[in-house]
Amino acid sequence: MAKGFFDHIIHGGDYNPDQWIDTPEIWDEDMRLMNLAHVNSATIGIFAWSMIEPEEGVYDFSFLDRIMDKLHENGKAVILSTPSGARPPWLAQKYPEVLRVEESGIRNEFGVRHNHCLTSPIYREKVRKINTMLAERYKNHPALKMWHISNEYCGECHCELCQEAFREWLKVKYHNDIEELNFKWWNGFWSHRMNDWSQINSPKFRGENHVSAMKLCWNKFVSDSHISFFENEIAPLREITPDIPITTNFMKLYDGIDYQDFAKHLDLVSWDNYPAWDKGRNVEEATDTAFVHDAFRSMKEGQPFFMMESTPSLVNWHDVNKLPRTGLQELSSIQAVAHGADSVQYFQWRKSRGGHEKYHGAVVDHCGHENTRVFRDVSRLGANLEKLSDVVGQYSDSKVAIVYDWQNGWAVKHFCGFNNINRNYAAECIKWYEPFYKKGISVDVIPMDADFSKYDLVIAPFLYMLKEGTIDRIEGYVKNGGNFVGTYLTGMVDEDDMCYLGGFPAGKLKDVFGVWQEETDSLPEGIRNSVSYNGKEYTVEHICDIIHAQGAEALGEYGKDFYKNMPAVTKNSYGKGKAFYVAFRNDEDFVRDFCNDLIKKFSLPLDAKLTLDDGLVMRKRGDVIFVMNFTDDEKTVTLDKEYNDLINGEAVSGSVTIAPCSYLVIE
Ligand code: GAL
Repeated sequence: MAKGFFDHIIHGGDYNPDQWIDTPEIWDEDMRLMNLAHVNSATIGIFAWSMIEPEEGVYDFSFLDRIMDKLHENGKAVILSTPSGARPPWLAQKYPEVLRVEESGIRNEFGVRHNHCLTSPIYREKVRKINTMLAERYKNHPALKMWHISNEYCGECHCELCQEAFREWLKVKYHNDIEELNFKWWNGFWSHRMNDWSQINSPKFRGENHVSAMKLCWNKFVSDSHISFFENEIAPLREITPDIPITTNFMKLYDGIDYQDFAKHLDLVSWDNYPAWDKGRNVEEATDTAFVHDAFRSMKEGQPFFMMESTPSLVNWHDVNKLPRTGLQELSSIQAVAHGADSVQYFQWRKSRGGHEKYHGAVVDHCGHENTRVFRDVSRLGANLEKLSDVVGQYSDSKVAIVYDWQNGWAVKHFCGFNNINRNYAAECIKWYEPFYKKGISVDVIPMDADFSKYDLVIAPFLYMLKEGTIDRIEGYVKNGGNFVGTYLTGMVDEDDMCYLGGFPAGKLKDVFGVWQEETDSLPEGIRNSVSYNGKEYTVEHICDIIHAQGAEALGEYGKDFYKNMPAVTKNSYGKGKAFYVAFRNDEDFVRDFCNDLIKKFSLPLDAKLTLDDGLVMRKRGDVIFVMNFTDDEKTVTLDKEYNDLINGEAVSGSVTIAPCSYLVIE
């Protein structure tokens, strides 16, 4: 399936010519340098509000007019941003309600960015107005190819407007019935029963912060508020420029917004990718990043995503910002493309002369010329990307899915009990993703309400909370021949964090897995149990369920404690499918061996039949195969036949050596 918006890979990034308004010769130099660097696109206007509306109602688009024309004359696509990510000082001064109120109840003063109130009618009106002006002005401009809405929506506001909006949101959710809310929040506990909606406030450190159901509502309300803010932003764009695709840039696995939900409102998913390469754990960092790419790719089935930002060298916001070794950023960009990105974009094109980000990596450094290591790297990559047009729009189907669900992440974070310190939901999902990724088996990363039916195997680590309908969907999937893996603490609560009664896992999941989970043990640091599986001993850490097999076959048993010899890994045949329950947490060892057994058992297809040295990773997109080396050593891949090396334009076969931080792309 191919569905892209361009016929080539977009190579460019954030460009802030408004910072160089008094030096027009720099704009001309930028065009020359962009051509040299094989840059074909620029994202502009992200933080340009104070430039285009210097005073309320006074507009000056002259700089945007000029730069749009100039970019077009130079053959660059423009991704035009709406400016709501940072407002001009006059706006904050005149309308303080646009400023965010922190959890403390104190309203912020003007400053920094990404900190507007999500509800303020005035801010929404002002944003809509400026967006309308932008759309009207540039609707016929040939350079305009995409809208970039705001920048990295994030955070929350606790002002009175937002509190009131929260109460209204709750009234809708609970059918205007405060007793329903009392029941769902279990307000009989600690005498919290309410008799009026006005008694509800946002969760706060010095207020209510122990009602997990309420915190889940707040998370969802904040997420919905961002989406409704976004919908307000894009209404004029949809009307005036209906053919221009719309995106907004997401931030990794940021949990303040349910990105899986938000993605439904976008034409194209995009995200800002800043792996911590400077931490000296490149292989692990690459695995984490691959997972995130796959999560974003999976949000729009059949469609590529954009890597809207990345740094061409270092960032400025780590404690210590080490320069990445040569080749690593290029490899990181290639990884994005391998996993489904149709763009490689940077923050930013030219380094700022002043301000907070003047030491953040950029394609053009303060020296202003092209004779730098970073510029050479970017240019080389740009030239290589031009050779990869065959992957554009390509989306590869996966046979394996990992359920990583934003809302389950909230629920896992909020509940109190068992092991309260070792909860890292994302890390747990990545652990299960890794064995497939390392073997070269493509994996989708999906929410629990995605369609399971197209997968041979669905793994749902730590699926603690079940959204409505999930029990039936898992049951139906397995019954019809699907293979499903659940782990400890599966199916404990519903969407309001209310425990399922009648034994865990919830309802008929007990039949699907053929197990009943009676208790859960938590292991303090340093205390371990063990599990024997296939004649090998594995460590149990942090948490484990004590389960009874009720129809399931035990594949592994606990080695110690009062639950010694009780089942720890089970398999159950249900309908035409199989359900596995892995009752304990382990480091990668067990997960790797167990997943490798599943790969064999279900004959899960590798992306391509290459023989990889340990440490090399492979990914297929369309007919193009990417082999990547994130290790510090030379590695070898043995090809099963002759391929065309797309970068060098030569035929390759047999064994190929891949240098550290390097890659091979073949078709
Ligand atoms: C991003 C942001 C950019 C820039 C960059 C620096 O999160 O969208 O505007 O600040 O970080 O790494």
